[in-house]
Amino acid sequence: MCGIVGYTGKESALSPVLEGLRRLEYRGYDSAGIALTVTQGAPLWVAKRAGKLGNLESTLDVVPESHSGIGHTRWATHGGPTDSNAHPHLDNEGKLALIHNGIIENYVELRAKLEARGHTFISETDTESVVHLLSDARKAHAGDLAAAMREVCKELRGSFTLLAIHSDEPGRIVGARRNSPLVVGVGDGENFLASDVSAFISHTKRALELGQNEVVDMNASAIIITDLDGNVLPHKEYEISWDAAAAERGGYDHFMLKEIYEQPKAVADTLIGRTEGLDPEITAGIDFNAIDKVVIIACGTAFHAGLVGKYAIEKWADISVDVELASEYRYREPNVTSKTLVIPISQSGETMDTLMALRYAKEHGAKIFSVCNTNGSTIPRESDAVLYTHAGPEIAVASTKAFLTQLIAMYLIALHMGTERKKLSASEHALLADEISSLPSKVEQVLETVEPLRELTRKFKDATSMLFLGRHVGFPAALEGALKLKELAYMHAEGFAGGELKHGPIALIDQGTPVIAIMPSVGSLLHEKMASNVQEVKARGAIIIAIGDADLASADYKVRIPSTHEFLSPVLSVVPLQVIAYEMAIARGNDVDQPRNLAKSVTVE
Ligand code: F6R
Repeated sequence: MCGIVGYTGKESALSPVLEGLRRLEYRGYDSAGIALTVTQGAPLWVAKRAGKLGNLESTLDVVPESHSGIGHTRWATHGGPTDSNAHPHLDNEGKLALIHNGIIENYVELRAKLEARGHTFISETDTESVVHLLSDARKAHAGDLAAAMREVCKELRGSFTLLAIHSDEPGRIVGARRNSPLVVGVGDGENFLASDVSAFISHTKRALELGQNEVVDMNASAIIITDLDGNVLPHKEYEISWDAAAAERGGYDHFMLKEIYEQPKAVADTLIGRTEGLDPEITAGIDFNAIDKVVIIACGTAFHAGLVGKYAIEKWADISVDVELASEYRYREPNVTSKTLVIPISQSGETMDTLMALRYAKEHGAKIFSVCNTNGSTIPRESDAVLYTHAGPEIAVASTKAFLTQLIAMYLIALHMGTERKKLSASEHALLADEISSLPSKVEQVLETVEPLRELTRKFKDATSMLFLGRHVGFPAALEGALKLKELAYMHAEGFAGGELKHGPIALIDQGTPVIAIMPSVGSLLHEKMASNVQEVKARGAIIIAIGDADLASADYKVRIPSTHEFLSPVLSVVPLQVIAYEMAIARGNDVDQPRNLAKSVTVE
């Protein structure tokens, strides 16, 4: 939520700051703003506008030369998406600018205190309190912005990434983070700060991790990282493994479409070298025989991957698995012991709800084995072990390729645990591993046959509601299909377990209601049950779109996917659902990559 970028170096700052904002716009697109240091001691140059980054860009005709600056793209929390609530926020002299991602929980009391001291506020944001506080602290610290930032961070409650510049010191940028992401990009005679590495990937592949409550003080040639007491900390450098092309649309109309078509590769990359068992380096510190329960915590799409994981882990590793919505988990004060293995799943590694659930479990003695797509992000850093998915950067707000790789991670963990716990024989493991290894080419086959879905989807463009039915692992797939449609088509969509309909939801079925049925394989007991559920809704007027490895006679429209092991089928059945949601968004004239009200990487609770 909110994209943050800072640049200091030899280039004219506007260009890398704008480029960073373009790449980070997926994190929030309610408003955008930039502040540049131009003349030492004079007010900063600032431009900000409500709406998407394009609105701001259209105002940038005459921009003064500058070699350092900060930029922000906002997902509004406190105060609506207006010009005055857009970041950066300024002190009353217009010389200090601040951008922020997160929520300052004690901003009301801070604002009252600062107003009493004579500060004038012009926005409704929580952030503006911080810039006034920082201004006072800087004066108290003889103009040392980093010392001021450290003092201010101690006074703040909540979550934040903060970047500040002051016109007295052009070239200097000071940043800080707590429970919100910030990475440093190390360049040659130039340095960067950003919410994630995609902002500076075309300039450098060298990045530094920043830990909790750390402050970074940089100019074009030096980077100093300290804790809040001013103790200098060592740099934790890593190399970014993908390149700028991975974060670009590459000829596709939308990032989402590109990411849908990248799925065979994402799945294959996540599998490489792992089907025979996970590397001991990955699982070091976790004794799978010493646990008596698994708890998967995640949000949204990642939660659906967790639901599928439950089937595989319970069956192959013979251990009970709870799947919990991370946002609900800790408030229930659940029972957690040192024998609980907690698996947080997160594409971004920064989702606040998941992070807080992780911390609760850790404080109560659980071992944490996270599944994550983002190197160096907070969730893996706070885990005992991490299985990284290799989806590459996912830019579209609606998750697609990350979901498929999360499913793969679930299967890999289930296989590994099954073998470690001696619940799977070598031959059973090998058979499953073979079938999992065939998934990239089967996803490819699905993608080769989705073209007719475009026309089919358009037929239902004006529907007011669409229902998704599934049983067993088809149920989480149905939930995922409905979530994709809601977020992209802004349409009522719900996923149901096929057998549950008759207990109430069947009342929703009306003449012409489109129902997508995810069919289990022919021959399985559940195929028959599901076929009966389909008949029940068809008898009440529903139009049936069946997805399965065989044609369902009673279906009005049939979408064929390759056969696979039942537990693995969501990897294939979800792909047409993604395509339907994508096409529906286009048919209804919606913004595919940046759906309304949403943001990628939800760093507030
Ligand atoms: C939906 C979607 C979200 C995320 C959820 C968790 O398309 O992308 O539901 O799955 O916000 O995000 P991560 O995986 O980053 O923790």
